[in-house]
Amino acid sequence: MGMDREEAKKRIRSVLGEYFSQQQEKFIPGQTPIYTGRAVYDDKEIGAITDCLMDGWFGLGRRGAEFELKFAKYVERKYSLVVNSGSSANLIALDGIRNRLNLKGGEVITAACAFPTTFNPIVQLGFRPAVLDVDKTMNITPEAVEAAIGPDTKGIMFAHTLGNPAQVEEIAKLAAEHGLFLVEDCCDALGSKYAGKHCGHWGDCSTYSFYPAHLITSGEGGALTTNDHALGRIARSLRDWGRDCWCNTDEKNPLGACGRRFDFKLTNAEFYDHKFIFSRIGYNLKPMELQAAMLLEQMGRIKDFVAIRKRNYKAYSEEMAAFAEFIELPEVNHRAEPVFFGLPMILNHQKVKRQDLLKYLNKFQINTRLVFSGNLLYHPAYRDVQYTKCQELTNTDRIMRDCFWIGIHPGVSEEMIKFVVSKFREYFANMGAAGRA
Ligand SMILES: Cc1ncc(COP(=O)(O)O)c(C=O)c1O
Repeated sequence: MGMDREEAKKRIRSVLGEYFSQQQEKFIPGQTPIYTGRAVYDDKEIGAITDCLMDGWFGLGRRGAEFELKFAKYVERKYSLVVNSGSSANLIALDGIRNRLNLKGGEVITAACAFPTTFNPIVQLGFRPAVLDVDKTMNITPEAVEAAIGPDTKGIMFAHTLGNPAQVEEIAKLAAEHGLFLVEDCCDALGSKYAGKHCGHWGDCSTYSFYPAHLITSGEGGALTTNDHALGRIARSLRDWGRDCWCNTDEKNPLGACGRRFDFKLTNAEFYDHKFIFSRIGYNLKPMELQAAMLLEQMGRIKDFVAIRKRNYKAYSEEMAAFAEFIELPEVNHRAEPVFFGLPMILNHQKVKRQDLLKYLNKFQINTRLVFSGNLLYHPAYRDVQYTKCQELTNTDRIMRDCFWIGIHPGVSEEMIKFVVSKFREYFANMGAAGRA
């Protein structure tokens, strides 16, 4: 007689536990890659995903709903919606607001120093980007926002770059004074705070990414939050093909939680299943239940992940102070408490050629990334986009030319940090009197 299913499940869990307890990779300097971002997980996440698979339930269900509640509680927002990426969250956020306010075009203030999908929805949804430079925190400033507001401005959509909080309370105040909407892209800023509150607190809609480099991960994934229930429902509808019905139907509630699933009429006066009545031009941007299962486990690690990222950032920034002649770190606004996405460094262009340094670091498996697009407007996709340039993009261009970042995620150990610093030291020492190549 074989074991029963419950027994088999327990065995699977225990084997997963054994697998992960033995999976201690030894760090070999110069050979083990030091990634810019990596998923940190163990048998808890894989066990939760496996349970989900064994239940035979792939579509978003109770785990998704549980995650949404927990996530909203963590970021102190009324409503959260889980989606399949941060980019999807941005698209739904802006489309949701467009639907909610019945907007048809107008200007949206944003940054040129951007991840493409912070900027793209503005163009895709028929708005005109009003483009700003960033300051030494790599963010747009309230002063620049105020100067950019014009008669056609409808809203502001910006990211807290690499998790370093912008002066968002001040920006939100301007938005309120001028009747503008605000979307806070917190894709890199989960865990970061401004004025004692989580980034995302001020946005009419705020967005998050769960791609592996981010604070918590589900492989691909994202979420949005809002305090406006009507906007939350619109966002849910847009995520779910434009579906009119927002209440859950499951085995316990085959007639929907409202009990009225089959009582809705369409314009042809026929009764129709509410689950298949579409009231918006929507998408399908849902994640799978497996991702929600993983996210629920990752939520339990947020506190540790925040602490490790802060510790790694501090260790690096203290060490990098020795290279002040060559490297500058971004400034941090005085009321900001960042949980950085990575360690951004701005090179002294007179002394260091970024391309050479990056080649050197990558030779030793020290992975590097640039600050996303640098200046998005130089990229081929944006050649024909109509936008308003509100400022000279001086700092943006500097970031594009001289900035890069390395990983500080929880997979980065003290040993790795020492090695990375030693390679910087070596590089700058060997550059010696010859200076910039
Ligand atoms: C600021 C910002 N917004 C949006 C995104 C898009 O997130 P995703 O990769 O989950 O689509 C990213 C990705 O890292 C990002 O950094």
